Amino acid sequence: MSEPRQPQHPIHPQFPGRWSPRAFSGEPLPKAQLLSLFEAARWAPSANNSQPWRFVYGIHGTPAFDALFGLLAPFNQTWAGNAGALILVAAKTVDDKGRTVGAPAFDSGAAWMSLALQAHADGLFAHAMGGFDKAKAPEVVALPEDHIVLCMVAVGAYGDPAQLDEGLRAREAPNERKPLEALVVEGRFGAP
Ligand SMILES: Cc1cc2nc3c(=O)[nH]c(=O)nc-3n(C[C@H](O)[C@H](O)[C@H](O)COP(=O)(O)O)c2cc1C
Repeated sequence: MSEPRQPQHPIHPQFPGRWSPRAFSGEPLPKAQLLSLFEAARWAPSANNSQPWRFVYGIHGTPAFDALFGLLAPFNQTWAGNAGALILVAAKTVDDKGRTVGAPAFDSGAAWMSLALQAHADGLFAHAMGGFDKAKAPEVVALPEDHIVLCMVAVGAYGDPAQLDEGLRAREAPNERKPLEALVVEGRFGAP
C-alpha cells in the first residue's frame, strides 16, 4: 500500500482513512453490522428533516444480492461480487406532507457518507458505484413512485488483492485529492 494520505490541515483521521477498495473478502456481511451502517446513515441532516434516503440491500449469497449484482455494469461486476452486501441508494422525492423534497440527492449523499464512515470505523469498507443499470433498477427493487435511483454501494470486509486483475490491483490503494486551493474560494470565484 502507498503512503498514507496527507491532509493539508488538521482533521479527524476518519476522513483520509476512508477509501474505496475493490478486493472484498466474499464473506456475507452479518445483518447486525449492516444495520449499524444504516443506523449511521439515518442520522444524516436533510432539508426540513425530510430524510429522503432509502436503501435496498442484499447480503452476499442471497437472491437479493444476486438481483442487485445483475444491475451492475460489467466493469463493476468484475470485482463487486465479493462484497459482503450490495446496497442500492434511492431517495423519496415527496415528503410525508406531500411536499417536494428540497434536495433529495444532496441529503442522500450525506447519508451515504455517514454509512461509509461508519463502515470505516467498524473496520469495513464501502465503495459507491454509479456504474449500474439505472433504467432497470426500479423494476428489480420494486421502487415505489416518487422515488429516484441514485447509486449503488458495495460493502464488506477487505479481502486479498490478488483476486483482482493486474490493472485493478495496481489501483488498489487510497488515491489523492486536488489541493484545497482548487476547491475553496473566499467570497466569489475569480476575486483577486
Ligand atoms: C457517485 C459515485 C459513483 C462511483 N462509481 C464508481 C463505479 O461505478 N465503479 C468504481 O469502481 N468506483 C466508483 N466510485 C468510486 C470513486 O471512484 C472513488 O470514490 C473516488 O475515486 C475517490 O476514491 P476513494 O473513495 O477511495 O477516496 C464512485 C464513487 C461515487 C461517489
